[in-house]
Amino acid sequence: MKTIAILFVAACGVALAGAPEGKTVFEAKCQACHGPNGEGKAAIAKMFKVEMRPLGSKEIQAMTDAELKSVITKGHGKMKPVTGVSEKQVEDVIAFVRTLKQ
Ligand code: HEC
Repeated sequence: MKTIAILFVAACGVALAGAPEGKTVFEAKCQACHGPNGEGKAAIAKMFKVEMRPLGSKEIQAMTDAELKSVITKGHGKMKPVTGVSEKQVEDVIAFVRTLKQ
């Protein structure tokens, strides 16, 4: 029984490749503005005078990985490009954003 559980966890880990690392990147680089679950922080939205769409929302989830990557590396609207992230970290954080889907 125990072996099956371990195999199951291992298989899930492969399916969600990048997401656990992405969570660390998210916590370091996105959470301050977007909140722990990507819901968006009211104070930040007010400061930038924008409406922050929850990252798990249909609208954001409908964006392609390439579009999300562009938001992160080139910025979008009031959001400045996120600096200090490697190509791999950007991919990982996108994988994490996908897990926020509501
Ligand atoms: C300094 C605050 C800040 C940080 C840090 C930040 N964001 Fe944002 N983000 C914003 C704001 C403000 C908006 C809304 C921009 C607008 O609509 O003009 C936004 C918008 C977005 C959007 C939606 C774009 C759209 O089309 O509506 C995505 C996706 C996003 N951020 C992802 C991320 C990710 C992933 C990270 C971390 C790698 C991150 N952001 C870091 C402030 C931030």
